Amino acid sequence: MRTHRTSMVILAIAVAATAAGAWIGWQMRDPQPATPSPVAASSGEGRDHWRATYDPLHFKPAIDTATDAQCLACHREVLDDTVRETSPAGVRAAASKAWYQQLSTYQGAQETFHRRHLLTPMARELMNLRCNTCHQGHDPREEAPGSSATSTPQATTDFTLRKQVDVETTCLKCHGQMNAAIMGLPAPWPASKAVFGDSCLTCHAAIRTRRHQVTYLNAAAIEAAGQQNADTCYGCHGGRAWYGMSYPYPRHAWADMPADLPDWAKDRPTQSEARFQLPASARP
Ligand code: HEC
Ligand code: HEC
Ligand code: HEC
Ligand code: HEC
Ligand code: HEC
Repeated sequence: MRTHRTSMVILAIAVAATAAGAWIGWQMRDPQPATPSPVAASSGEGRDHWRATYDPLHFKPAIDTATDAQCLACHREVLDDTVRETSPAGVRAAASKAWYQQLSTYQGAQETFHRRHLLTPMARELMNLRCNTCHQGHDPREEAPGSSATSTPQATTDFTLRKQVDVETTCLKCHGQMNAAIMGLPAPWPASKAVFGDSCLTCHAAIRTRRHQVTYLNAAAIEAAGQQNADTCYGCHGGRAWYGMSYPYPRHAWADMPADLPDWAKDRPTQSEARFQLPASARP
């Protein structure tokens, strides 16, 4: 009897220790490359919530090569869910347009953030965003970089405190202020566009012509649409500015570029971010 009790106790301790070991091991996950699990690759079903939350696809390096299909296996809701027709307080979505929905390019019913960037006709025409264009990893536990020796380092540009993306390296690219000062515009675009025939191409047919050569944009479609309607260009360069600042765009050399480097351009990169550069074969 006694022996039996003892062995039960030992067994219980062993079980507890194994569980704790697994739990600690989980917490201290080795940051070495982890291959995305076949389950994650095919379907989100059959995994407990905790393991799914810590799926390697949420972290470097697996997130760099994750396909949208792999993320959507568990997160279909980000593309499937649509907005309510009427808010709980009774405001009809169709009857409420925000200031950033006044550009002539805005079309269709109200949409969720993810659908506007990935699915709507304009998004598909001009852009080629992927889940990992914006999502570069996050920290489900602390919601902060630099929280421990094995977590994402503090200096990361993958995500920022309490966010799952880094807005400065993503959103700001298309939602910053138009830098009218360096363009020599006499006034902000809405007030000066008439002087330039309401076209950015009045100047940009010859200035900074090497543009949008990145994996997440459809350069040719953007030029075609911008020729028809300057709001297409302005939309990403000031027309929907969530921020008081401008994005410091890389300054690619162009034909007949003046030899003098303006002061404001001294710290600018001359190439797009490496992770977005087109493969050599796709460059014009
Ligand atoms: C195996 C299923 C699975 C896969 C694959 C998966 N996720 Fe998740 N994801 C989850 C679960 C579960 C959570 C936690 C949800 C919660 O607790 O609210 C989560 C949370 C998130 C969050 C919110 C994090 C937070 O801190 O609130 C983001 C953003 C996210 N995932 C993006 C992605 C992206 C991008 C991919 C592909 C690179 C991906 N996920 C792949 C299951 C998955
Ligand atoms: C244009 C940038 C962008 C793209 C592209 C993008 N996301 Fe997100 N995603 C965000 C932002 C911003 C949030 C909100 C983050 C926060 O609250 O800190 C978010 C939140 C989420 C969340 C948390 C739950 C929620 O809905 O708020 C999940 C899950 C998620 N994204 C999955 C995906 C998946 C899967 C894809 C690809 C199909 C994707 N995202 C593409 C920017 C993006
Ligand atoms: C590559 C360019 C690009 C990036 C990066 C980008 N956006 Fe956008 N965003 C757009 C375009 C284009 C539209 C307008 C879509 C339309 O009118 O159909 C838009 C629209 C929006 C809207 C308005 C949606 C609506 O239904 O009116 C919000 C909010 C938004 N973006 C937030 C963000 C946030 C937050 C980020 C960063 C996580 C981000 N965007 C990153 C291009 C971008
Ligand atoms: C009066 C001529 C003129 C017009 C009109 C004009 N631009 Fe510019 N733009 C410039 C000049 C000049 C520069 C800076 C060139 C350089 O790099 O030396 C510039 C630079 C830019 C840059 C890069 C900014 C940076 O920080 O590197 C963007 C983006 C841009 N223009 C977008 C637009 C858009 C969009 C429109 C129309 C809504 C527009 N421009 C209209 C002259 C113009
Ligand atoms: C969907 C959003 C979007 C639209 C529409 C758009 N741009 Fe851009 N533009 C960007 C982004 C993002 C970059 C930075 C790309 C990179 O990192 O190389 C950029 C870069 C530029 C630059 C800097 C070029 C350089 O030296 O690298 C100029 C100039 C510019 N855009 C002008 C325009 C003009 C003119 C139009 C209309 C014909 C336009 N943009 C339409 C998002 C957009």
